[in-house]
Amino acid sequence: MKQVNLEWGKLGFNYIKTDFRYVSIWKDGEWDGGKLVEDNKICISEGSTAIHYGQQCFEGLKAYKTKDGKIQLFRPDQNAKRMNQSARRLLMPEIPEEKFIDACIQVVKANEHFVPPYGSGATLYLRPYLIGIGDNLGVKPAPEYMFSVFCSPVGPYFKGGLAPVNFMISDYDRAAPHGTGAAKVGGNYAGSMLPHEIAVKRGFADCIYLDPATHTKIEEVGAANFFGITKDNKFVTPKSPSILPSITKYSLMDVAEKYLGMEVEERDVYIDKLDEFIEAGACGTAAVITPIGGIEYKGKLHVFHSTTEVGPITRKLYDTLVGIQFGDVEAPEGWIV
Ligand code: COI
Repeated sequence: MKQVNLEWGKLGFNYIKTDFRYVSIWKDGEWDGGKLVEDNKICISEGSTAIHYGQQCFEGLKAYKTKDGKIQLFRPDQNAKRMNQSARRLLMPEIPEEKFIDACIQVVKANEHFVPPYGSGATLYLRPYLIGIGDNLGVKPAPEYMFSVFCSPVGPYFKGGLAPVNFMISDYDRAAPHGTGAAKVGGNYAGSMLPHEIAVKRGFADCIYLDPATHTKIEEVGAANFFGITKDNKFVTPKSPSILPSITKYSLMDVAEKYLGMEVEERDVYIDKLDEFIEAGACGTAAVITPIGGIEYKGKLHVFHSTTEVGPITRKLYDTLVGIQFGDVEAPEGWIV
């Protein structure tokens, strides 16, 4: 196997070019067979709907190296399903689930030497994306589509990994009540860059978005989902049609219930009732679990467990989930490929 010289333990969440990506084109109503290419540049029509009208969606999943040197993907079928939900919302062609998973496996195998070693804390992040391409001018679905998967070795998304960080409530909305909040589309993320920058300039890791209709309920934590642990040991996470359905969040709900024996609730989380929680966190593929130290709301920092120490339940959730992902804890059936 080829070797790469990277300081695995020092990786952040940054782009590193690897050797191969997968690409497949949809034209005249069907997908081609797809292939691996070495080029990381794409050449598309200047009229592509992805460029002008944001007709594109993407996914994020990771490959993990286990103690005995195997490489495994975590729930890629869920990413395939979610990508197809996003595709349907933007009138893009769906990708057969087997094609999606096969593309991910091909990319991991072709870039095996970029999968960080077990114990380094780093993983190989896979970024599948689907974009409208081909000559076009009006606001209408593209004549052709490209589905591609590239990968990059990554470390923690938020500085420090499993270390508490603080968030502020944003004045901006991430999504509209009946908009595209539940789809993983670039526009949602483009709109989050300014609020994110404002939060970082004020010394926060990112911002928290409230529900767009009433601004009373927590929806998302930057590019991740929210969870809280109540005083009576319940795992609580917001329910809303404008939240991106995080695969990590749904996995954590299962972990909390089946591995830690907790009660789980997906329901409204009111910003003026934060003291119902003794711990809180952000969760997502990139964020994994990032403990929330405190949330600034109306000029005051509401601290959960601590701004410096990880809470005991958050740590158990993290150890169990990450244990499953790295093959140290037995996974529920179908979670590991
Ligand atoms: C992920 O968690 O995979 C994401 O897509 C979040 C972000 C990096 C956009």
